[in-house]
Amino acid sequence: MTIPYRPFGRTGVQVSALALGAMNFGGLGNPSHEDGVRIVHRALDAGINIVDTADVYSRGESEVIVGKALAGRRDDVFLATKFHGRMGEDVNRSGNSRRWIHRAVEASLERLGTDHIDLYQVHRPEEDTDFDETLGALTDLVRQGKIRYIGTSTFPASRIVEGQWTAERRGRERVVAEQPPYSVLARGVEAEVLPVAQRYGLAVIPWSPLAGGWLTGRYRAGGAQPHSSRADRQPGRFDLGSAENADKLAAVEALAVLADEAGLTLVELALGFVLAHPAVTAPIIGPRTLAQLEDQLGAAATPPAPGRPRRHRQDRPPGHHPLLPRHRLPPTRPPPPPRPLTRHHPARPAHPLRWAGRACSHGGAEAGRRRGPPHHRSGLTRGLAADRQTRDLSQ
Ligand SMILES: NC(=O)c1ccc[n+]([C@@H]2O[C@H](COP(=O)([O-])OP(=O)(O)OC[C@H]3O[C@@H](n4cnc5c(N)ncnc54)[C@H](OP(=O)(O)O)[C@@H]3O)[C@@H](O)[C@H]2O)c1
Repeated sequence: MTIPYRPFGRTGVQVSALALGAMNFGGLGNPSHEDGVRIVHRALDAGINIVDTADVYSRGESEVIVGKALAGRRDDVFLATKFHGRMGEDVNRSGNSRRWIHRAVEASLERLGTDHIDLYQVHRPEEDTDFDETLGALTDLVRQGKIRYIGTSTFPASRIVEGQWTAERRGRERVVAEQPPYSVLARGVEAEVLPVAQRYGLAVIPWSPLAGGWLTGRYRAGGAQPHSSRADRQPGRFDLGSAENADKLAAVEALAVLADEAGLTLVELALGFVLAHPAVTAPIIGPRTLAQLEDQLGAAATPPAPGRPRRHRQDRPPGHHPLLPRHRLPPTRPPPPPRPLTRHHPARPAHPLRWAGRACSHGGAEAGRRRGPPHHRSGLTRGLAADRQTRDLSQ
């Protein structure tokens, strides 16, 4: 199995097409430090070279575990962490101020056991803090050699643009990456965030590509409520009996059929979906156990065909994704009247999943876009916008 590498925005750095997320490391996910270290080592051995954590994940414990795992291997890894979340009772121990950033970075460096962070991300935007205050502090950290690059997470498109303009006008380091929520069940960022990221050449490393576990196949219609660490922490979000999860369950059932037909696991289909978007650099997988990691490693194994660079597509309306033709999805509004079947209107477009995940060995996303059906705003897009999470489980 070979994980391909992709350019990290316009930085010149190459990163693996899957990133390893460490949110599950520590008391709020898997408390075993040995397990965390084993997961990191297995991921690195498989070719993953980008690891994402945050100061707030289990209140610093995740960074400690990542630091242990990277001892002796630090130079092989593009290490990303974040600040912003609350790290203590004091009113100023959180946020995006210069004052907090300088304290937060020192604490992260110590926990991670390193002298520099490759990507230091603003975990969330903050309304009342001047972006230039934040960017100025981060620029100083770049110049001091404590961080290499600046990133953001879960920023709306307008704030992403504001960051670029602020950097240009005030001579600051620019933001080079955005980390948005994105999965086949949470597609809100397709409308503006992903096109804006493409326009500014940002790397995009989406979080929760399996929608926190919904896209693993363990939550099925008619099945028993499975045990899961996420469901223990957020019962409402994973309650199979709740009306607001009914759309998700229906979508999972439809996706399971598609995955089956394509010879993929649901996990591979879900990760393949995120990977296939031309704006995406590397989805961040979030295994809690070694077995969960193994299930996910196969998804990025097939490199894009040589000579087929991923290009920007300006000609598709927001919401389009080549993996989701309308005709295969659960309808949420009456279907349009049938079109006459003539030579120019084939009954069924070519199957879009031939090139997803491990099956995408002949041309990758570009080939899929050539063969894919025209855009329709899918029932899935609308029905599942409801799962547009903006919170994580870190605190
Ligand atoms: N920037 C942000 O605000 C933000 C927010 C969230 C996450 N993140 C980053 O993104 C990473 C990934 O996010 P995520 O953890 O939400 O990703 P995810 O892949 O959508 O969900 C991970 C969860 O899915 C379940 N799972 C994974 N593989 C499975 C398998 N093979 N079989 C059954 N269940 C499986 C596990 O649930 P159980 O634990 O219940 O078994 C696991 O905790 C995080 O580690 C973090 O680095 C960032």
